[in-house]
Amino acid sequence: MSVGIEKVGFYTAPYYIDMVDLAKARQQDPNKFLVGIGQKQQSVIPPSQDVVSMAANAATNILSDEDKQLIDMIIFGTETGIDNSKAASMYLQSLLGISDNARAFEIKQACYGATAGLQMAIDYITLHPDRKVIVVGADIARYGLNTSGEVTQGGGAVVMLISNQPKIIQFDGRSTFYSKNVMDFWRPGYTKEAKVDGHYSNDVYIDFFNRTFKQFLQKFDLTINDFSALTFHVPYPKMGIKALRSVAGEDDPSMESIWHEFHESIIYNSRVGNLYTGSLYLSLISLIANSDTLSAGDRIGMFSYGSGAQGEFFAGILQDFDNSKLKHAVDQIINNRNQLTISEYEAMYKQGLIDAANTANDLSGDSSRFVLKGRSDDKLIYRDQEMNIDF
Ligand code: COA
Repeated sequence: MSVGIEKVGFYTAPYYIDMVDLAKARQQDPNKFLVGIGQKQQSVIPPSQDVVSMAANAATNILSDEDKQLIDMIIFGTETGIDNSKAASMYLQSLLGISDNARAFEIKQACYGATAGLQMAIDYITLHPDRKVIVVGADIARYGLNTSGEVTQGGGAVVMLISNQPKIIQFDGRSTFYSKNVMDFWRPGYTKEAKVDGHYSNDVYIDFFNRTFKQFLQKFDLTINDFSALTFHVPYPKMGIKALRSVAGEDDPSMESIWHEFHESIIYNSRVGNLYTGSLYLSLISLIANSDTLSAGDRIGMFSYGSGAQGEFFAGILQDFDNSKLKHAVDQIINNRNQLTISEYEAMYKQGLIDAANTANDLSGDSSRFVLKGRSDDKLIYRDQEMNIDF
């Protein structure tokens, strides 16, 4: 019985800022952001996009009508929920026209939510091999203007279709996990901006990676050489570099290929920034879309981390997959974004913090198929701009 990722889609909003511009505006040496953090650009999410519209935009080009009828579960991993009660998946179900005979719900555990959803999807397909599940990781990372976390903001969505036809990655159900109640990053209910003990969060992340990775090797009698690539939750590229350094020396000739693949896996993250639940999966997309050296049968390790904190290490086997269509689609989304000045970004960021019972978003600069029109009498209104339908 095979189970894994049959299709994968990505979306980020049509705006970005350059990290050199941000560094200059914040009186920082640009190399701190480019080299010290590893970030080149950062997506800026306008008020016309939220996790629902971004997920719908990520999913729309990958799901066929047949898929929509076979989907039994819509699992939405996010820590940027749009309602304290109603799940983002309910809106997504109607925007995409997925069968009503589905379970639709949201999962929260910081950046780990999509991985919890993925593991649940794998279990479900193992028991119900003729059905399909979609797993979403969508978020907007906000730390605040002029904070040390600002350089690690970003946002976007990754959507994975999980089935018994794993055309991209096949999973075998093996994983190791570790959790502990710590205060490294959190977001109190009254604010849209995260609280973070940044340096402490780095230490907890590396500790959890080492625990779960080493336990995985021991439990399944493997060594690091059994992996062709290791991918990580990437809040910012330097975090992944630090984690990989903790188990693979950069100057060790036997680790050359794992470092080569790692650099392929952060190409997109270094231009999009942090998308919390979607970051590991954007890194996986970056690896399989950009690497010319991986081939079918290669084992790819994945480390998922959600502050608070939960870590999980698992692995998948790359399938015989033509990556050209995926690479073209993701390159187009990232390359076609419009660059903002820092003052334009600051204005857009502040607009994104405003919320009220009645709002109307400016849609003029956003030609994405799905947008958030605003709120009417406390109800969110989405728009399918291609079909001219409001939801
Ligand atoms: N050229 C090159 N590198 C430079 C530099 C320069 N001019 N100036 C500083 N650096 C390096 C530092 O040496 C440091 O590298 P290191 O981490 O390898 O030691 C890096 O840039 C960052 O500098 P630092 O002083 O630690 O930055 P900071 O105190 O402003 O905070 C974070 C950095 C990541 C802690 C902060 O952005 C943050 O809190 N981010 C959000 C938290 C997060 O994403 N946590 C991850 C777990 S999920």
